[in-house]
This record gives sequence, structure tokens and C-alpha cells, in this order.
Amino acid sequence: MLSERAEVTLGLANPAFESIDRHRENPYSNNNPDGIVKLSTADNNLCKDIILEKWNQIAFHDFDANHLFRYPQLGGLDRTKQTIAKFIDRYFSPETPMDFRKLSLIPGITSAFDVISCAICDPGDGILCPAPYYLRIYNDYKERAGVEIISVASIENNELTLEVEQFEAALKSAQDIGITVKAILLVNPNNPTGEVHNRNEIQPIIDWAMRKNLFVLMNEIYAHSVYSESQQFTSVLRYSSKLPERNLLIWMWGMSKDFCMPGMRFGVVHTENQQVVDCLHRFELFQPTIPLVQFIVEQYLSDYEWIDNYFDTNRRRLKDASDYLVGKLKESGIRTMPAQAGFFVLADFSKFLSEPSMEAERELNKRFEKHGVLLVSGETMRAAEPGWFRIVFTGLRSEIDEGLKRLKMALSIE
Ligand SMILES: Cc1ncc(COP(=O)(O)O)c(C=O)c1O
Repeated sequence: MLSERAEVTLGLANPAFESIDRHRENPYSNNNPDGIVKLSTADNNLCKDIILEKWNQIAFHDFDANHLFRYPQLGGLDRTKQTIAKFIDRYFSPETPMDFRKLSLIPGITSAFDVISCAICDPGDGILCPAPYYLRIYNDYKERAGVEIISVASIENNELTLEVEQFEAALKSAQDIGITVKAILLVNPNNPTGEVHNRNEIQPIIDWAMRKNLFVLMNEIYAHSVYSESQQFTSVLRYSSKLPERNLLIWMWGMSKDFCMPGMRFGVVHTENQQVVDCLHRFELFQPTIPLVQFIVEQYLSDYEWIDNYFDTNRRRLKDASDYLVGKLKESGIRTMPAQAGFFVLADFSKFLSEPSMEAERELNKRFEKHGVLLVSGETMRAAEPGWFRIVFTGLRSEIDEGLKRLKMALSIE
């Protein structure tokens, strides 16, 4: 009855939204102490006060109501894109000033994944991505574009590594089963590891991919959520002219993480590749960024004094929240992967598994769920080794404490 695409989509698990729905029905709160504690969704609630303060200052009556009566410009309004180009110049330091005509506005990186894959891949093509990866990546490329995400194992012997040889091996195994690989996808800073990859790690992989004529999809959605004092983040835009084939680079960023507003549904894609730009602008009609949202985004992204203060405070709050969770886990004998950015840490629960298998990881996950606490399991993020779980630390402190209490109960830790 339905299309093959619909059958594939409905046949896939949808873990992120399943947990969001379960939590919505029965959320933990002071008034509902038996409700579910959700430490699984990467949204940052630490700076709501600052974001709302700015929101309350927006002069909404300045929005030009004429936008309601005409179809908007494909790919985003020039005025908004000029504001964003300046924001990128200031906060990502590209080598040369950003040309606003090369930007495409999009309602979130989820949409960017979808339209980019439709622009560069045919159904059945593959994209290489270091695993564990952000759990929606598999669905976002597969559901509509029919693209296969091929894991590049990046945790070996409990260490994070990102090397050309791992990509080379993944490319070969994909080709061996007849998959045409079109691109690599890198997320930096990374979700779920929270790691910031420096240029020395990233550039050899990009160089390798471009020499193989693969597109490089660079997702920097956590660029300004780096809280470690010892780690600097360098955007790929700073050295893109040094890459072998700049036309193969597709860069993306959005408001969901660095500005804590996943509900705004706003993202931006940049590429020098004019054909890709043209295609994204055409596709934008199907998933537009509405002018009212663009107006709001302009208000946030053009006030540099506010942004500087907000970024400083956000980093401090992220660091406090991360230190708190990591410290508490350590007290309970749970090791975490060193992280420098993002809203989460990867925690190693392998010693609590009945045996080193994904089956045992699933059992442990069920135990956490039975105790009313939701985490993201390694298997859903395509981790190669069992026992890793991602824990989000950017919720209310009371929820973190309750979640930790339940984890300990599930693990029978005193
Ligand atoms: C790495 C990564 N990319 C994309 C997204 C989704 O972004 P958006 O809200 O802009 O669709 C997330 C959300 O968790 C993410 O972690």
C-alpha cells in the first residue's frame, strides 16, 4: 500500500523520539516524583534565563508583515544571510569573509542531513561516519534519501581514535558489498563523545576523503559549546583553502545546541560548490525556514555584546554541570570518556554487564528503564564495544541527582 520508502522508515526503530514520547507522558518533577527521568536528549537547559531575557527584548512589531503575503526567497532571505555571514566571520573566523550567497538556510541540521543526502547521493549510496555517532544520523540519512551510514569504529580498547586507516578500511568493506560511498560525515565537537578534534587529527582525514573524490560533510553544531579551558576549537572554515578540493566541503551549523533552541528549527549550510548551493536552494521550498524565524534569528545573531556574555556564561555552566556529573559517577566507580564539549558524557558500564555482548547491554538498558531513568545506549549509537551509555548533564540538578540515584539502584551500588 505505502511506498517502499515509507515501509523502510516505519520498519526502523526511532529511539530518540520513543524516549521523548515516553517521558512526555510521565515526566519526573517535584509533583510527580515517580515519573521518568530523561538523561537522554541533548538539549541544554542551563541558560534558559539568558535566552529568555533576550527573547523578551525582541521588538516583534518590527517584523515586516509583508512577508506574510508573498512566497519567501529560496534558501533564505538575503538580509538574514548577511547577518549570519557576519556572525560566522566573527565566531568561526573563516580565512576569507563569508559570502552570504553561498549560504542556505534550513530548519535545522536534521533537514540539512536530509536535503544534502538528496543532493549528493542516490538511494543505496553510502556515507562513512565515525561510530559511536549521534543516534539520529542513521535515520536522518536512511528514511527519505535511502542512504546507508557506514560506521568507522572510533573507539578501540577504550580509547578514542580517528585515523585515515580506519576510514580506508570502512571504505573498502563498503565497496566489497557493492555500496558506492559518496561522502564522509564528521561531527566536531563530537556527539556522543564530547571530544573536540583538533586540526592535526581532522585534516588528514579530509585530505584523504577529498583525494578519493568524496564529499566532506562537516557538522560543527557544538562549536560554541566547548567548556574545557585546555581545548580550543578550530573550525574547518579556518583552513578550507588548504584542502585539496574545497568544492567538496559542505559545512553546517545551527541554533539547537549553541543557542539552546532546538524548538527554533534553524540551521545553515555553507559550501563553495555552486551546484550544491543551487540544489539546496531548490529543495528549501519543501522545508523552508520561515521569515518570522529568520527575523528572530537575526535578533540573536547580530548582538555581539550579548553573544559574548552568553557564550562565556554558557561555557562556565556547562563545565560546572559536566564536572558535577563526572565527579558523581567517579565516586560510584564509573569511568567516563574525557570530554571537552557538548551536553553529555559517555560512561563505561561494561563492568556491570553480565557478559561482554550487546544482548547484555540491552538487558542493562532495560534495568535502567525499569528504574525510571533513560540514557542512550551504545548500541543505538552504533558503538562497536558494548557497555557505553551517553548521559546528558544539562538538565535540572534535581533531575541529575534523581537520575544518579536510580542508576545506582539499578546497578545495586551503595
Ligand atoms: C550532532 C548533531 N547533529 C544534528 C543534531 C540535530 O540538529 P537540529 O536540531 O538542528 O536538527 C543533533 C541533535 O542532537 C546533533 O547532536
